[in-house]
Amino acid sequence: MLVVVAATSLFVTSVVSYAYRSLKPPPPKVCGKPNGPSVTSPRIRLSDGRHLSYRERGAPKDMAKYKVILVHGFDSSKDIYLPMSQEMMERLGVYILTFDRAGYGESDPNPERSVKSEAFDIQELADQMQLGSKFYVIGVSIGTYAIWACLKYIPHRLAGVSLVVPVINFWWPSFPAKLANEAYKKQPKRDQWKLSIAHHAPGLVYWWMTQKWFPYCSIMQRHPILFNKRDVETINNMSQVPMPNEHEIRQQGVHESLHRDIIVHFGKWEFDPMELENPFANNESSVYLWHGHEDKLVPFELQRYVVKKLPWIRYHEVSDGGHLMIHETGLCIAIFRELLLGEAPTAST
Ligand SMILES: *[C@@H]1O[C@H](CO)[C@@H](O)[C@H](O)[C@H]1NC(C)=O
Ligand SMILES: *[C@@H]1O[C@H](CO)[C@@H](O)[C@H](O)[C@H]1NC(C)=O
Repeated sequence: MLVVVAATSLFVTSVVSYAYRSLKPPPPKVCGKPNGPSVTSPRIRLSDGRHLSYRERGAPKDMAKYKVILVHGFDSSKDIYLPMSQEMMERLGVYILTFDRAGYGESDPNPERSVKSEAFDIQELADQMQLGSKFYVIGVSIGTYAIWACLKYIPHRLAGVSLVVPVINFWWPSFPAKLANEAYKKQPKRDQWKLSIAHHAPGLVYWWMTQKWFPYCSIMQRHPILFNKRDVETINNMSQVPMPNEHEIRQQGVHESLHRDIIVHFGKWEFDPMELENPFANNESSVYLWHGHEDKLVPFELQRYVVKKLPWIRYHEVSDGGHLMIHETGLCIAIFRELLLGEAPTAST
């Protein structure tokens, strides 16, 4: 009898302990802390004590005509590859500031990360770097949740905005249920699961993304299903470019970098982007949105719906474009020239 009780309690203890271990992410290895990676790049200290690591490129800040903060996407960093030479950036008169979003690279994790907190990280970065009262912002892929938040919370600070292949959230209230549902059903099954868990049960995201029983997420596994023909060509081109810091992207742990991105982006937002107002009501600047008709990650049907609701956004749909357009020379330059110079892109892009 006693043996049975002991065995049962041992079994229960093991199950609970397994569940606990597999649900709870390990603490991040924070940069600059005793067990963490070392800090190798410049950082600012935010008002809540967190550090943000940044990188500057292009024209020197004091000489630059245009100051741009560019926000990286999923599994990326301040070292995001931009196919523009130093000379080209100087000719354009552009200074580009990139930073590791919270939890990525050498920026401290923010367990309180939200759509809103990312906008205020950007504002504090701009102020500490003395970019002036207004600056340009460009967001790429999932990094655009920070840009929607800038439009919501700090519109008066923006000199111009470009959203590049912005990831949508199927649960934004303005989407008609039927449209959102149809698009959702077209996602690979594993990604439907991931999205649903992120939205309804964020506490299970760590377990889902680290379990070995089911295929868990196409993007983490860099699955070819996500890329169209032009993307594959871009990936081949990029494989020629040395990216010495790529190993640093996830160095503090995948939970506070990658998983937190999924939880925040596909969670419940404090506002609906499709109800935002034009920050440039006097036509002093513009908001642009670039999307690929063949983007395998973000259905163009939903993107078209977003811009239909926000007619002040100038929309470009690249007919054979995929998800990696910021890394293509012609498109990257067109995106910058339009944002900074108001120059309409040519047909060849
Ligand atoms: C890949 O590189 C070649 C050679 O530089 C270029 O002509 C081509 O446009 C690039 N393709 C993409 C999709 O970036
Ligand atoms: C706003 O500016 C653009 C050029 O930047 C121009 O094409 C457009 O007609 C202007 N719209 C209004 C309402 O003034």
